[in-house]
Amino acid sequence: MSENINNALIVGASQGIGLGFVRALLQNEKISNIYATYRREASANELIALSHKHPQQLFVLQVDVTDESQIAAAVRQIGTSASKLHLVIYCVGVLHEGQLAPEKSLIQIDSDNLLYYFQVNSIGAVLFAKYLLPLLRHSDRNIFASISAKVGSIGDNRLGGWYGYRASKAALNMLLRTAAIEYSRKCPQTIVVALHPGTTDTRLSLPFQKNVPPEQLFSVEHTVNLLLSVIEGLKIKDSGNFFSWDGTVLPW
Ligand SMILES: NC(=O)c1ccc[n+]([C@@H]2O[C@H](COP(=O)([O-])OP(=O)(O)OC[C@H]3O[C@@H](n4cnc5c(N)ncnc54)[C@H](OP(=O)(O)O)[C@@H]3O)[C@@H](O)[C@H]2O)c1
Repeated sequence: MSENINNALIVGASQGIGLGFVRALLQNEKISNIYATYRREASANELIALSHKHPQQLFVLQVDVTDESQIAAAVRQIGTSASKLHLVIYCVGVLHEGQLAPEKSLIQIDSDNLLYYFQVNSIGAVLFAKYLLPLLRHSDRNIFASISAKVGSIGDNRLGGWYGYRASKAALNMLLRTAAIEYSRKCPQTIVVALHPGTTDTRLSLPFQKNVPPEQLFSVEHTVNLLLSVIEGLKIKDSGNFFSWDGTVLPW
């Protein structure tokens, strides 16, 4: 593979916003190679079909982010065909899954569930920041973004509930802010940001959509276009911040 090309990595691309980024980047002439991860084949049919349709452009890797060795192996695998990445977006997230549902009250707090929220929503992202640093240390402007959520804003928390999801997104934000400081020293061309997508019509939001006014429920395509515009406009000074879909900076 030539080195004068733009390489992107979308983590958590089987569904929803991650899959939407893959679709959008396949149309983007500036992006030559897209690496995309999925966890389970069963929910990654569309992504895998896209990789068969675009075999020179889209490369899929299987990664469960709760297993650090799988993250390390995927990054090693990417490194065999690309010496640098220009855009990384961590789109993995869990709000509900099987018996796991967001807590409405303290009585529902369960330590295993809390740990799981942190593993998926917070720790996976910072592990990617750990392993990807060598592929982001180059002289071109590049982005390490992670999809966070406004409900992870401590300053904005007025409703309560959703302990594990909120806390894991707040932890994600702190991990990204801290990584941004280390990256500014070791990897100064990387802009590290947390992004709030707005309520988006995906599997994750589906059980909670009934109280969302239609104009506030974005399609995946709309969210992806908005977030790509935010990413496009980012400057080095923006690293370490938390941006909403409209480009405004959110309170921590
Ligand atoms: N949709 C919204 O309204 C909304 C609002 C605010 C923030 N967000 C955030 O946006 C991001 C994307 O969510 P979405 O709405 O697109 O939801 P989604 O359609 O459910 O996608 C979530 C993705 O995360 C992956 N994932 C979950 N656990 C994983 C694990 N252990 N290892 C690897 N991958 C894993 C899923 O893979 P599988 O297919 O294998 O499950 C899927 O690809 C999340 O961080 C979410 O918190 C969404």
